Amino acid sequence: MSPRLSSKTNIWITGASSGIGEALTRALARGGHRLVVTGRRQDALEALQQHAPELITPAPADTTSRESLQAIADRLESHGPLNMAVLNAGTCEYLDVGQYDSDVIEANLVTNVLGTARSLDIALPALRRARSQGQPATVVIVSSSAWWFPFGRAEGYGASKAALSYFAHSLRADLAAEGIDVVVVSPGFVKTPLTDRNDFPMPFLVTAEDAAERILSGLAKGHNDIAFPKRFTWLLRALGALPQALIDRMAASMARKSTDTQEKQE
Ligand SMILES: NC(=O)c1ccc[n+]([C@@H]2O[C@H](COP(=O)([O-])OP(=O)(O)OC[C@H]3O[C@@H](n4cnc5c(N)ncnc54)[C@H](OP(=O)(O)O)[C@@H]3O)[C@@H](O)[C@H]2O)c1
Repeated sequence: MSPRLSSKTNIWITGASSGIGEALTRALARGGHRLVVTGRRQDALEALQQHAPELITPAPADTTSRESLQAIADRLESHGPLNMAVLNAGTCEYLDVGQYDSDVIEANLVTNVLGTARSLDIALPALRRARSQGQPATVVIVSSSAWWFPFGRAEGYGASKAALSYFAHSLRADLAAEGIDVVVVSPGFVKTPLTDRNDFPMPFLVTAEDAAERILSGLAKGHNDIAFPKRFTWLLRALGALPQALIDRMAASMARKSTDTQEKQE
């Protein structure tokens, strides 16, 4: 059992106002952990606080904005030294290649990569203060397994999560000497407001509560890479190991089918 969640811990979660972040907050509060929760929607964070008012502190902010994050920096330690930052805030914008627009790529990169990097501007000093007191400190970065295969329309989302995973693994190398763990979470499809917009089949879809349990179980076991559900991630890994020419043919055929389905629906 890892010391990460073995005692009551102070945790900051971004993207807590819905989906995976909200489910993680509820599960951690049930375990008695103290949470500071961030998202842009203050009303949603305040509603979440009602589940455990003494354990959950809302700290609304836009993670893409330095100023917005600096305004909540003090709150990260409102329950004591910060032991864990779960950087989960994210978006998924799909590209319609017929109407190619680089703004779609920018939207994914800014929220998913820059927003996570900016969140560390305020999280890292707080985590270092916890380490200086001999306490555990962990950064958890919620990436995705989507970038392991070149899915059509996912140019922006997949590129952002590939960059985010690289960022996280590189950060892991740099922070190892300080004893700060960096955990990378790579979910498959999870039923949340983000995927409720999808108009294509989502194999092995799991609930947000199930996703939260799998993440917490991986953290408690001390895993630094948490990917689920296994049937989906193993399938993606197997596909990713095929020769590139075969991957290209499969990806193009899947993209064509997805476009045909969209056109029939319109
Ligand atoms: N659902 C899936 O199948 C799936 C699969 C793989 C990875 N993921 C990743 O899991 C994470 C959570 O996604 P989800 O599925 O739970 O989606 P979701 O329900 O849409 O949640 C996204 C969260 O991010 C917050 N957020 C977005 N932009 C923000 C910003 N600029 N500043 C602050 N907060 C921001 C949203 O809060 P506000 O709207 O209040 O700002 C919301 O709380 C994302 O990083 C996503 O890429 C999801």
